[in-house]
Amino acid sequence: MNLQKEIINATSEYFENNLDFLKLSDASKKYKDILEQISNQNMDIEKGRDDIHFDNGKALGTFWAALCLDDLLRTRQFIRGIDKAIKEKMSSQKPLHILYAGTGPYATLILPFIFRYSKEDIKYTFLEINPFSFQMLQKLILKLGLEDYDITIVNEDATKYCIDSNNEPDIIISETMQNALVKEQQVPIFLNLMNQVKNEVIFIPEKIELSIGLNKAGVSIEELKEKRFYKEKTVFEVSKEAIFPLNQVKKQAIEKFSFEKKQIVIDNEKLKGFNHLLMITEVQVYKDEKININDSGLTTPIFIKDIPENLKSSIVIDTQYLISSEPKLDYKITFSDTL
Ligand SMILES: C[S@@+](CC[C@H](N)C(=O)[O-])C[C@H]1O[C@@H](n2cnc3c(N)ncnc32)[C@H](O)[C@@H]1O
Repeated sequence: MNLQKEIINATSEYFENNLDFLKLSDASKKYKDILEQISNQNMDIEKGRDDIHFDNGKALGTFWAALCLDDLLRTRQFIRGIDKAIKEKMSSQKPLHILYAGTGPYATLILPFIFRYSKEDIKYTFLEINPFSFQMLQKLILKLGLEDYDITIVNEDATKYCIDSNNEPDIIISETMQNALVKEQQVPIFLNLMNQVKNEVIFIPEKIELSIGLNKAGVSIEELKEKRFYKEKTVFEVSKEAIFPLNQVKKQAIEKFSFEKKQIVIDNEKLKGFNHLLMITEVQVYKDEKININDSGLTTPIFIKDIPENLKSSIVIDTQYLISSEPKLDYKITFSDTL
């Protein structure tokens, strides 16, 4: 079997509507084996393991970026969301232009599509900031015989990349995040790209939400999946609509951009029976393709504070997402009787 067919076969499980974990896990192993064989490169070395640090967050080392494939539901949901977006856009225009920011060494999320569509149907722009990942990506493209495809690969920073207005993408994909949107550059990347394109462009993921939640005593992070938590309020959303609302005539100079501060108050009555404050991450990849709480490393809740027993006051939480060398949702928790 040739490599193109092997990739199509190995990745077909991602497109099955029925979620079978065993099959998904086998498929993911096969997909990874193929990529490792083609690349034939040990990434578990210093330049492979080193993350690269910037003023607005870090880019993962090549070794870690390659490992993302193993996050089964993440990879499945992204591929399914991308599939839906391509089908939707393809019905009205050809060729489609897909911009993939942060490909890692394997362009993991887009490779399943390259061989499922003809060269004439889709053109691609791949951005990768890490030089070692970029080098591996170049080699992969050569070894897969993709020279004839319309693929532009660029070793640049997606937080600063300028989109050619005569060659605007139809779909923009980036998975450069961790749970609670800490450390990596998902937000500055989307901010930069959303600022440059028309509203019709589909962003994958379509929406990322950070919320404050509560959980009960003795419930571990794993058990939270069984809904033994309460989601109080969403405090930060990354989506075209939330970042650049349609009624805002002019898009903004990115350097001057700052996210809204949000305050939430949780009444004492609501806190009864709960012992911890949590930060919850949810990802809507595209339409009904979602990554729910605890489905993936991207959506593992984070404990942020113990709630004292017999608390008499309400809790006030002030939040604001801040982009810095360590991006994060900044928060301050105050008990209202101490205000
Ligand atoms: C979490 S990994 C994901 C790899 C792959 N896309 C996947 O989903 O399996 C993120 C990748 O984005 C790259 N990256 C991070 N920040 C970037 C930036 N500002 N510009 C371009 N690439 C970036 C990292 O170097 C890394 O390869």
